[in-house]
Amino acid sequence: MELHPDVEHLAMLLGTWRGKGSGHYPTIEDFEYFEEVTFGHVGKPFIAYSQKTRDAATELPLHSEAGYFRPVGTTAVELVLVQPSGIVEIHDGILDGTTLRMESTAVLTTPTAKSVTTVHRMIAVGESTLSYDVHMAAVGLPLQHHLSAELHRQ
Ligand code: HEM
Repeated sequence: MELHPDVEHLAMLLGTWRGKGSGHYPTIEDFEYFEEVTFGHVGKPFIAYSQKTRDAATELPLHSEAGYFRPVGTTAVELVLVQPSGIVEIHDGILDGTTLRMESTAVLTTPTAKSVTTVHRMIAVGESTLSYDVHMAAVGLPLQHHLSAELHRQ
């Protein structure tokens, strides 16, 4: 299917990526995880994103999330993203070369979800690697690092 011209500058994301990541936060034990991410398109002006992870020690399912990247012109990108943990993120971002820097403009949580107020996501795409960092302000703490991972194009 032909890529919509509005998402051509995000084409470097398209495909499936797998790799390993690590996470930490002051309130939890450090952890490592395996991850698979898919960016797809249906010829419309957005990129569909889905992610799933497994605990690197037990191989049991861990976090997952899904959403849509919505380009606005050639450098601005909106993101809407949901997590089964009851968290919804809305971001505005900027594409700088092949690096996307997303900052939440709203984070909504269901009544029983953990508190999260701000999320920053940086995604850097190389020749055949995709690396990212996620920072969050959660459970009453200021914005700080939660995740880094390096994935490889499949
Ligand atoms: C690769 C993606 C992610 C993985 C593998 C992951 C994994 C984990 C793990 C293992 C924990 C500790 C156990 C638990 O509370 O379940 C945790 C805690 C948490 N994570 Fe993540 N996480 C991911 C992404 C995110 C994102 C994107 C957010 C928010 C936007 C988030 C928010 C939280 C919160 C609020 C906690 C609870 C901290 C606490 O209870 O003090 N996580 N995460």
